[in-house]
Amino acid sequence: MDKTIIVFYSKDNNTRTAASILGKAIGARALELKEIKKGSFIQALFKKGSRLVGSPWSEIKPYSRIYLMSPIWASNGVPAMNTFLDKADFTEKEVIIVTLQQFEDLKNSDKVHEHIKEKVAKSHGAVLHCHALLGGKMGHFAGEDFIKEQVQKLLAEE
Ligand SMILES: Cc1cc2nc3c(=O)[nH]c(=O)nc-3n(C[C@H](O)[C@H](O)[C@H](O)COP(=O)(O)O)c2cc1C
Repeated sequence: MDKTIIVFYSKDNNTRTAASILGKAIGARALELKEIKKGSFIQALFKKGSRLVGSPWSEIKPYSRIYLMSPIWASNGVPAMNTFLDKADFTEKEVIIVTLQQFEDLKNSDKVHEHIKEKVAKSHGAVLHCHALLGGKMGHFAGEDFIKEQVQKLLAEE
């Protein structure tokens, strides 16, 4: 078990682009969380989940290292990632948390990282690193170069 997978959710393409750049750089598969019905701001605010297509939590079984990549919504993680975290088994897995958001002071990223860390620990996983990146303004894509620069910095830090 020495393989890495990137699990991500993205609405406006920022996290998707980061996951794709990271995946190419480290030779890892990127698995997108897709919802049956789009999650909402209110669900994010109350840390609720949304129903996901398929069972992505079962797809992480063969992997020993998992990147969890999520936008920040309403100062929290997104509903799709909440569902994934509730159902995934992180036993003997190493996890790296990456968030993307619009606020340049990276406000509340620490809080979101802590929340995800707690969920991973509860499910017997170990969080190795947390990274807070900037994405686009709400509803906007920041552009590939902007995202790429930050992913490269993230890799240099690890
Ligand atoms: C519903 C919603 C709520 C958001 N709330 C926040 C927030 O509380 N703090 C923040 O910094 N950015 C917030 N954002 C901005 C996103 O985190 C940012 O646009 C991110 O890059 C989106 O990632 P994506 O393009 O992969 O979907 C919000 C965006 C949306 C759509």
